[in-house]
Amino acid sequence: MRANLVLLPGDGIGPEIVAEAEKVLRHIASEHGHDFEFTTGEIGGCAIDAYGDPLPDKTLDPCRNADGILLGAVGGPKWDDPNAKTRPEVGLLKIRKELGLFANLRPIKPYSALIDASPLKRSIIEGVDILFVRELTGGIYFGASRTEQIDGEEAATNEMTYRVSEVERVVRVAARAAQTRRQHLTSVDKANVLEVSRLWRRTAKSVVDKEFSELNYDVVLVDAMAMHLISRPRDFDVVVTGNLFGDILTDEGSMLPGSLGLLPSASLGEDGPGLYEPIHGSAPDIAGKGIANPLATILAAAMMLRHSLGLQTEADQIDAAVEKVLNDGHRTKDIAAGGSAINTTQMGEEVLKAL
Ligand code: NAD
Ligand code: IPM
Ligand code: MN
Repeated sequence: MRANLVLLPGDGIGPEIVAEAEKVLRHIASEHGHDFEFTTGEIGGCAIDAYGDPLPDKTLDPCRNADGILLGAVGGPKWDDPNAKTRPEVGLLKIRKELGLFANLRPIKPYSALIDASPLKRSIIEGVDILFVRELTGGIYFGASRTEQIDGEEAATNEMTYRVSEVERVVRVAARAAQTRRQHLTSVDKANVLEVSRLWRRTAKSVVDKEFSELNYDVVLVDAMAMHLISRPRDFDVVVTGNLFGDILTDEGSMLPGSLGLLPSASLGEDGPGLYEPIHGSAPDIAGKGIANPLATILAAAMMLRHSLGLQTEADQIDAAVEKVLNDGHRTKDIAAGGSAINTTQMGEEVLKAL
């Protein structure tokens, strides 16, 4: 297969972890006789530094024609000035919006070798297998915003809006995923307080009733979900929710496997290329030290092979290699539970050896 892949390393640990995922992709290509062509582009803070724009057309245009896009992370203290003209995160939101990537798949499945690396008890996390489907191009992230004077003091507003069609399409993605899994779909909202959540709830139920009535469907309020996620995570299969709630719940969910450095994601639209990235950020506290865990990004590369290129066998091989490396006891610092740890490149090398 010929594939045109765009790498967007970004900021902080982004370049360190994408480098390891790139090696894995090149290895897969040579083992299976694929022709992967790589293009690298700037997004986020490094693009602000180079072009004054967190997502210049020079980066976005090749992405539109790509078969898949692999992103590291954006952001960092260097670009955090609240008075700055633009921010790294604007580039990430723009690429998601421009490419129509409304469904963000975030699987959470603890590794048996790491059960004791999680802050949660073995009895809680054993057997957990959740797929979060986070709406990614709507809600409060993309609503109108303003800062203004109200009664003589400064006030700021962000609006949270969902249209019926935006809820329908993401619920369909989640429901189709549930059909291939354990037939259980949970929708998470805040319908006891928010008008926008009441529309979300009505719409989600109507899609399920009309098109997926065979599914076991339930609804949970987001505050309760934050608790259920760590008290009875085994009870969930596919969870669909809005942009902000999905962002927060999945960082919380990363404590089930034990580290943000283990969770990949796929951002998908109706057609066109998917964007694949770890769910974590640029980790400024460890950037440049060479100790970041590259596994989330390597697993994101596997998701790219599976979802955008249809290379199921190759994706399974990467997943199995990661599992083997962990079974063999290799640990980066974030999952070492105080024990001895290897660095980012060594972890990448172990995955290559396991492949
Ligand atoms: P973060 O996810 O970068 O880091 C949170 C904690 O997790 C840190 O202690 C970090 O060291 C650790 N961590 C994250 N990834 C790790 C990895 N691969 N290996 C080992 N440890 C890891 O979140 P933050 O510190 O709140 O945000 C830092 C910056 O990243 C901010 O500018 C934020 O906007 C940005 N961010 C970007 C993305 C993205 O690009 N998709 C996602 C989240 C945050
Ligand atoms: C994520 C990140 C982003 C988000 C930020 C950096 C814009 O936290 O991908 O989870 O909130 O979507
Ligand atoms: Mn996040």
